[in-house]
Amino acid sequence: MVGVEVSSASCCDMPGHAGDNILVTGALGQIGTDLVSALRKTHGTETVIATDIYDRGNTDGPFMILDILEIAEINRLIRENSIGTIYNLAAILSAHGEKDPDLCERVNLGGLQNILDASKENRCRVFSPSSIAVFGPDSRPIAYQDSPTSPTTVYGKTKKKGEEMMLKYWRNEGVDTRGIRYPGLLSWKTIPTGGTTDYAVEVFHHIENSGEYTYFVEEDTKLPMMMMEDAIRATKLLMEAPQSKLSEYRTGYNVRGLSFTAKQLSDQIKRYRPQSKFTFTPDERQLIANSWPEDLEDSAAVSDWNWNSSFDLDRMVKTMLDGFSQSSSSDSSKIG
Ligand SMILES: NC(=O)c1ccc[n+]([C@@H]2O[C@H](COP(=O)([O-])OP(=O)(O)OC[C@H]3O[C@@H](n4cnc5c(N)ncnc54)[C@H](O)[C@@H]3O)[C@@H](O)[C@H]2O)c1
Repeated sequence: MVGVEVSSASCCDMPGHAGDNILVTGALGQIGTDLVSALRKTHGTETVIATDIYDRGNTDGPFMILDILEIAEINRLIRENSIGTIYNLAAILSAHGEKDPDLCERVNLGGLQNILDASKENRCRVFSPSSIAVFGPDSRPIAYQDSPTSPTTVYGKTKKKGEEMMLKYWRNEGVDTRGIRYPGLLSWKTIPTGGTTDYAVEVFHHIENSGEYTYFVEEDTKLPMMMMEDAIRATKLLMEAPQSKLSEYRTGYNVRGLSFTAKQLSDQIKRYRPQSKFTFTPDERQLIANSWPEDLEDSAAVSDWNWNSSFDLDRMVKTMLDGFSQSSSSDSSKIG
């Protein structure tokens, strides 16, 4: 692994560092919902400004509308709220992205460019996620950190380009940029929309509600996944890591959680819900799934910032079933 020279202009050490508060864009999405709570637990509620392009009206701390296509608004919000760190979660995901490629490019690349320019201007650190979608069919079955990135989807191309843009801002401008290639993320708190790995969450929601689920992929479809709890922990570990520990992979670390086929998932659910019924009717998302790796190698994240995953298939299934059954009996408004 090649270490990147530590820039003396690294953002946190620079005079003029904007402030200690945290801005989260796309905060009402699947990751933002959990990340904002986790950041507020660590840093305090008032320190974390959640933003999104729309208002759901029920957030527990500071919330503002922010469209990341509006750079003047980003700059204003950073300055008025003493922002020093940005978690840029605003994006158009894979399935939506293939349906509206222009919007996908505008938000995932144009929006990221605005975040990076505003971060350079205001001396902010930036976390912006990448995805396993940077890989193409030539990385199957296992994508290594150094495997070629040949995405076949518009979404994957924006993620690959995004990693490169972030690396350029680090190398040329000293902006402290970091990112993780998240696998499909699993959480019982939010039903994801617009992604190709959504079936691995939807299935629990449907089994708890109706006892039946029709997958939109074939039963032998195998993709890398990760529990949200692990994804949040990985994000915090990467953001807390000293600059000197990070390598050239700083804007797109592979992180492994667990990998399973749709059939293995169904079999494991049946151990706890024996009456469950599953069918498999692939749609256009099968093609996207077929272009992604089945599993990941993550030794760079393990050695650079001590990454380790904490869920196997059984623990994941038990956690998801417990979470969905508790939330449907107590607060169903969280789901959706
Ligand atoms: N969820 C996953 O499984 C997964 C996997 C790999 C990578 N990622 C990446 O993680 C990040 C967050 O993903 P997520 O699952 O939370 O996505 P999501 O679709 O659940 O949330 C994205 C949020 O961005 C907001 N948004 C869209 N356009 C915007 C704009 N112009 N300005 C401001 N906000 C806007 C949406 O309203 C939404 O709330 C994305 O970069 C995504 O590519 C997610």
